[in-house]
Amino acid sequence: MVRKHFETHSQGKINNGQLIKSGLHYVVRYMNATDLHHSMELQDHVMNALKKLGKSHYIIPKTKNYLRKLLANGHAVIGTFVKGNTPSEPDRLAAHMLIVYPQTMKEAGIGDSSVLPDKDLDKIAIAANVLVHQDFRGNKLMQQMMAEWLKIAKEDGKSHAIAEVCVDNEFSWSVFLDCGFAIYASGHDPRDGSDLVYVHKPLDYEFLYSARPEDTIKIRLFDDYGHMNKQAHRRLNNLLEKGFHVLDFDRTTKHILMTRCIGTKPLKTLEQSPPDPVNDNKPR
Ligand SMILES: CC(C)(COP(=O)(O)OP(=O)(O)OC[C@H]1O[C@@H](n2cnc3c(N)ncnc32)[C@H](O)[C@@H]1OP(=O)(O)O)[C@@H](O)C(=O)NCCC(=O)NCCS
Repeated sequence: MVRKHFETHSQGKINNGQLIKSGLHYVVRYMNATDLHHSMELQDHVMNALKKLGKSHYIIPKTKNYLRKLLANGHAVIGTFVKGNTPSEPDRLAAHMLIVYPQTMKEAGIGDSSVLPDKDLDKIAIAANVLVHQDFRGNKLMQQMMAEWLKIAKEDGKSHAIAEVCVDNEFSWSVFLDCGFAIYASGHDPRDGSDLVYVHKPLDYEFLYSARPEDTIKIRLFDDYGHMNKQAHRRLNNLLEKGFHVLDFDRTTKHILMTRCIGTKPLKTLEQSPPDPVNDNKPR
């Protein structure tokens, strides 16, 4: 069913528009096996840039073979192609994102199964290896691709959209927070020693949060030079263990906002919503 879904869509475009910064035209679409060399070039570029910044732990590089198998096994790669200025100029892959509907923990790519929000892997959709080329950052391309991921995951009956992100990668987890995700757990990857957080957006229910003022806590996670404050990191992990979630990040002051999660409730469907008294008498 998953494979069929992606195959049906694989030739069509998901979305198109103009880049916020340059006005160049872009197309978001599912990628196929013949596109994968573009993904490799994009990954090399992003990885080299991350290495220079000492941040290569932000992504776990994938091989072409891995991506080929991923597609063959019914998962998907969403790509954003920027149109050339002239018809002779080739389109460039500006961004991509992997969508995994895991059948096994190996496919999930998450070492610690205790962080999964559901024992039933069939209910989970994972985004991984989100990459935006430096030339095209700041155009909300991650959000564009994420919108498609959330839409299809919901259509496919998934209950949870999740992703694993390095805790010092504010550029990534802050976009998830902007899109309504919560950081709900932390972890550690023994493969490269990186400290992680997990982001989660339930697709068929919502979290309930305490309104008590003492249940909302602000923590300054980074210092003026952008380095993680170790004590703040420990506090973050401690509060996540106690059931707090990170719901917001102030990019200027570098504060995260944590609130105690006190439960869940089903999402309101249209039939369940009470009639809107203002609109009730309006002509159709
Ligand atoms: C995380 C990432 C995909 C987000 O890219 P994006 O969709 O372009 O981000 P946004 O458009 O929301 O950018 C918002 C702002 O943050 C800035 N920004 C985004 N990523 C940045 C980065 N890695 N370093 C510095 N600034 C960054 C943008 O320039 C923009 O600033 P502006 O509004 O002043 O122009 C991108 O940073 C990236 O590819 N990082 C490297 C790979 C990575 O870490 N992937 C995530 C793995 S989970």
